[in-house]
Amino acid sequence: MNYQDTLEYALQLDEQDELKSFRGEFLIPKHNGQDAIYLCGNSLGLQPRSAKQYIQDHLNAWEDNAVEGWFMGNDPWLSYHKQLIGPLANILGAKPAEITIMNSLTVNLHLLMVSFYKPTHKRFKILMEAGAFPSDQYAVESQVKFHGFTQDAVIEVAPREGEVTLRTEDILQKINEHADELALVMFSGINYYTGQFFDIQAIAKAAHEAGAYAGFDLAHAAGNVPVQLHNWDADFACWCSYKYMNSGPGGISGAFVHEKHFTDTTLNRFAGWWGYRHDKRFLMAAGFEAETGAEGWNVSTAPILLLALHKASLDIFERAGGLETLRNKSEKLTGYFEYLINGINKKIGDDVYHIITPKNKEERGCQLSVVCYSNAKAIFNYLAENGVIGDWREPDVIRLSAVPLYNSFTDVYNAAECLFKAIEAVK
Ligand SMILES: Cc1ncc(COP(=O)(O)O)c(C=O)c1O
Repeated sequence: MNYQDTLEYALQLDEQDELKSFRGEFLIPKHNGQDAIYLCGNSLGLQPRSAKQYIQDHLNAWEDNAVEGWFMGNDPWLSYHKQLIGPLANILGAKPAEITIMNSLTVNLHLLMVSFYKPTHKRFKILMEAGAFPSDQYAVESQVKFHGFTQDAVIEVAPREGEVTLRTEDILQKINEHADELALVMFSGINYYTGQFFDIQAIAKAAHEAGAYAGFDLAHAAGNVPVQLHNWDADFACWCSYKYMNSGPGGISGAFVHEKHFTDTTLNRFAGWWGYRHDKRFLMAAGFEAETGAEGWNVSTAPILLLALHKASLDIFERAGGLETLRNKSEKLTGYFEYLINGINKKIGDDVYHIITPKNKEERGCQLSVVCYSNAKAIFNYLAENGVIGDWREPDVIRLSAVPLYNSFTDVYNAAECLFKAIEAVK
């Protein structure tokens, strides 16, 4: 047996892990009294231990100051969001003015499409990946209908026959093919099913050359892989905070608008008072005047308790040294997991597990999507019964994500052991 295949090796990697102390900052669910092996950060990140205190501080401020809490106390609510913008801008590779925190993800997709999907009779199509997350499909479909077009206005790029992930060349080719009719290219940063990390920069460039806008849903990318939204020239992006950013179920979303659009008065938007010029908001005047920057896209009053949960997690990201440090561990963790899963097939001399996520680490984040060639659902259930928490996607995929802030190399080792034992157990 190779040393890499032993528990001792995993323990040694944990010992050398410069982020190991951060695991203790999260509440890990229990299974039979022990820490479960939680590999589901792609769906819902774990609760920071500090989260309750962050919420409690604002409940206290509400108790003590009531409505005055907007203007007084340690963290006056009116400007509280500003404390989160810097850390988020670091995570998304954006200028602070390009970031805002608001609403939920699909709502933000709609709001941003109000601005960046401006179809004309000639240029009315939206290009997206086939197999995008359903909410994105519904959002796009309903936007197209809202503008009086039919489903033909939605162009999908699908993998080649016999392939599961997309080739960048095929995405760019499809953009070129429809160049004259494209209004918008709307892609995910990482596909939720396969875990494929797309080439955002190349897609944005091709969209612009075609004369279209480029927008990105970063639900599975934000806080997972380093992105450079400003330098990569995305027009807009949005994400959720409840996956890799550990900000609680239904946690607040964020949005990016490239600064080159700040002065474009031709962009439509569905306005609300929270996007109004800050210096004049409380004059309550008629006629909407947007705040400069992404904040001008805000609509409603900031939900302070959701922001507090988000801040609890963003503060941990900052203390951990930011995304480059996390990515460094993430690549090792996921690479080790991949090695162990592939090793199971070798050990039993049969292909039971097939990882459909790209092998190239530049094209993936934490998530490995594992197809089980036989007894897939029974294997998934066996994992859950034995304290390994991933998630299931029809018809035969188990998504498993080792997250650098709270997962250890031992987690990954034990999960692989469980995958190995499952094969015999479910026969
Ligand atoms: C890629 C993607 N888009 C959209 C959504 C929907 O997000 P929300 O329900 O917060 O609008 C999700 C949720 O998991 C997602 O993964």
